[in-house]
Amino acid sequence: MCGIIGSIGHKKVVNDVLIHGLKRLEYRGYDSAGLAVLTTDGLKVVKRKGKVTELEGDQTTQKIDGNIGIAHTRWATHGEPNEINSHPHTDCAGKIAVVHNGIIENFYALKMMLVNEGHKFKSETDTEVLAHLVEKFYKDDLEEAVTRSLKLVEGAFGIAVIREGEDRIVVARRGSPIILGVGHKKMYVASDAPAVLAHTKKVIYLNDNEIASLYEDSYTIKDLKGKKVVNDIHEIKWSLEEIEKGGFEHFMLKEMHEQPDAIANALRGRISGEKVKLTVRFKSKNIKRIVIVACGTSWHAGLIGRYILEKMTGIPVSVEYASEFRYRDPIVDSRTLVIAISQSGETADTLAAVLEAKRKGAKTLGIINTVGSTISREVDSGVFLHAGPEIGVASTKAFSCQVTTLVLLAIHICQDLDKSVSPDIAQSLVKLPGLIREVIADRKKIQSISKKYQKYTDFLYLGRGINFPVALEGALKLKEISYIHAEGYPAGEMKHGPIAMIDPNLPSVFITPDDDSYEKTLSNMQEIKARQGKIIAITSIEDEKLTKLADDVILVPNVPAEISPIINNIPLQFLAYYIATAKGINVDQPRNLAKSVTVE
Ligand code: M6R
Repeated sequence: MCGIIGSIGHKKVVNDVLIHGLKRLEYRGYDSAGLAVLTTDGLKVVKRKGKVTELEGDQTTQKIDGNIGIAHTRWATHGEPNEINSHPHTDCAGKIAVVHNGIIENFYALKMMLVNEGHKFKSETDTEVLAHLVEKFYKDDLEEAVTRSLKLVEGAFGIAVIREGEDRIVVARRGSPIILGVGHKKMYVASDAPAVLAHTKKVIYLNDNEIASLYEDSYTIKDLKGKKVVNDIHEIKWSLEEIEKGGFEHFMLKEMHEQPDAIANALRGRISGEKVKLTVRFKSKNIKRIVIVACGTSWHAGLIGRYILEKMTGIPVSVEYASEFRYRDPIVDSRTLVIAISQSGETADTLAAVLEAKRKGAKTLGIINTVGSTISREVDSGVFLHAGPEIGVASTKAFSCQVTTLVLLAIHICQDLDKSVSPDIAQSLVKLPGLIREVIADRKKIQSISKKYQKYTDFLYLGRGINFPVALEGALKLKEISYIHAEGYPAGEMKHGPIAMIDPNLPSVFITPDDDSYEKTLSNMQEIKARQGKIIAITSIEDEKLTKLADDVILVPNVPAEISPIINNIPLQFLAYYIATAKGINVDQPRNLAKSVTVE
């Protein structure tokens, strides 16, 4: 949530680094953008409401010249998304500029203290207290002033600070990701890797409670107590092409098309014949219970994981919203495996859930996409998705890889426990990329179906068993990118309430795989049809009974139940995509959302 980029050493820091980096980070928030640069005339700050192009197109921005700068793209937390509340924030004298991700929880108390001392505030944000605190403590050493300020701060922060007269950028983190990019006589700071990828692939992940000073050709890192620390330099594996749209109209569309390759990558080196090899640090025989924690789409993948893991391994599984788990004093112990699922690896609630689980002695495992992310570094062991960067705010390929990885994990645990697994499952996993290609090849049909439905204002998504979470995910995808109200329900639960809403204006999307629930789901379809409800069916069965009931049928390949959610979800992604784009919505940046939710 919110993106930070900064650099020291570039001659044209504004366009080459700051604007370019902000564009790469827009998926993190797009309410407003701003930058601050140290020029020969002192500190210059420009902020604009709206997208980065507003900032880029501004004449003032283009006149700024300097080689030390920081910039920010904002997803509003405290204060409405206007120019004044945009970052960077400055002190009373206009010499210090701060960009910040996270939330200063005690900002009101700090603000009152500073106001009483005579500081004049301009914005409604929590971040501005940081600029005034640094001003209060500054004598002749920016790093020292920032350290003293942060000692007073409660909450989460990833910050970058510059000041007139200081040839460096001071950065620090607690709870919000910060990486340092190491270039040739240039250093970078960013909230995440895509922002610096055009300049360097060498990065250092700052840990919580660390502070760094970046100079043109060197850097120092200390903990907040002043002790020097040495962090390894890592090489980013993602390429520039992977973070470009590559000819697609949207990142979301590109990422949907990437799913066959993404799944192939998630499987690579981990499956051979019927055997699965994962490097995890727990012994399956010691695990008596599994708890999955996640948010949003990752939580839906977790729900599917419960069906898979329980059915295949016999170990009881519960799935929890990370935001609830973290606060309800959960009962977990050393025989509990807590699995955190997260694309970004930075979701604040999921991270807090992992820390809580660790505190209570549980074993933790991450199913994460972003290498080097905070959660991936906190868990005892992890299985990376290798889905490649997911930039579109709506999660698509990550979901497919998360479910794929959960199937791998279930096979892995079964092998450990000497439990037999149907060979069909491993075989179908290997065939999955090809099968998804077939579904994607049928997208024109889904597009033409979507045209019939784009004017509807409410949808119901219905599925049973392992495909009930697919209904939830289909509804979430439609909601978040088209702003159309949609609800996911277990098909059998429909007659306990939602059926009251059925009329010709409320279409239902049924996930109807060829499994034990097929006939029952047909009965539910009949109940909808009897009330003149429109029906779109996703199915792997060419059956007259179904085609008579459904207004539109989308056929998908038949696969074992454990794999079916991945296949069934693909048409739902396309349906949501085509409905949303027909409404003219920028699906990569839907309103009010941000890609990684690093605040509570
Ligand atoms: O990065 P994470 O997987 O932890 O993110 C969790 C959710 O914020 C995320 O899945 C969100 O629901 C997406 N916008 C869904 O498309």
